[in-house]
Amino acid sequence: MDAPALQSKAQSAIAAAGSLDELETARVHYLGRKSELKLALREVRDRETGIALNTARVAIEGALEQREQELAAAAVVADTDFDVTLPGEAPPQGSLHPVTQIRRAVEDAFVGLGYEVRDDREVETVEYNFDKLAFPAWHHARSPRQTFFFDESRVLRTETSASQIHMMEEREPPIYMVSIGRVYRRDTIDATHFTIFHQFEGLAVDEGLTLADLKGTLLHVMRALYGAERRVRFRTHYFPFTEPSIEPDVSCPLCDGEGCRVCKHSGWLEMGGAGMVDPAVFENVGYDPERWSGFAFGMGLERTAQLRHAIPGLRPLWENDLRVLRQF
Ligand code: PHE
Repeated sequence: MDAPALQSKAQSAIAAAGSLDELETARVHYLGRKSELKLALREVRDRETGIALNTARVAIEGALEQREQELAAAAVVADTDFDVTLPGEAPPQGSLHPVTQIRRAVEDAFVGLGYEVRDDREVETVEYNFDKLAFPAWHHARSPRQTFFFDESRVLRTETSASQIHMMEEREPPIYMVSIGRVYRRDTIDATHFTIFHQFEGLAVDEGLTLADLKGTLLHVMRALYGAERRVRFRTHYFPFTEPSIEPDVSCPLCDGEGCRVCKHSGWLEMGGAGMVDPAVFENVGYDPERWSGFAFGMGLERTAQLRHAIPGLRPLWENDLRVLRQF
């Protein structure tokens, strides 16, 4: 029996099968129990013939399987009454909230400086929110008129500054961290105030840090957020946990410092609070204030989003009106 001849005859028959029925007929004819090949295989006496016949059998089986897949695939396409080459329906696509976009921009700016990004709890203790940050007993933020208290010892954090304490208690210097998240204050809600907002808090602790390092860091971040032309200036201020304390201003990104409605014609915008870490805070976390120096700063994300996108007031950022949010 001529095995290669049989194989090629079978292969052409299989390729010519136009349906699964025709394919089955070919299978029975070439590989069925009474097929020429199976009968010949039963009679095999020598090795050579056995190998030749088995080679043909394997090739025919492979051809059958391949053709079956082709016919099945063709059946799927033929079954559908739509044009499979048409583009699909685009799923609706959301976008990131402007505050989230700013948060990411802030993270990028600080990661670029080698800072680590941190997230802390929003329910904070009086100890971490006030005491260890050296808030004096008389400070107005300790009043339940200003701060949401759960009980005598727990509050909704009023600022991200408690992260400074957590970080320093967990680690030894050098420290370069930025902590980002929500804070809560009992403000009366109006166009520019809401009881919840976001802050980013930076802390650097190392040997020999000065106000100049703070200024350079803030300049880098302000330029990352508001453009390469920005300038930064400091005004003296008071915070319980920094000494000296300052309020940084950034040159107005809308008028480039010329003076406009947004900067109230001063050419400058207030950006938050900052200063050199108070030695009392270092003592509260067990650092030697003679050896270590540091700076800290805190700023609002909503304000940054407002300025970047010229959003009037705070409300649009909290109302979740899709007509507003879709624009970003
Ligand atoms: N926590 C201060 C605030 O919310 C800002 C601040 C942070 C000031 C760090 C100094 C250092 O007003």
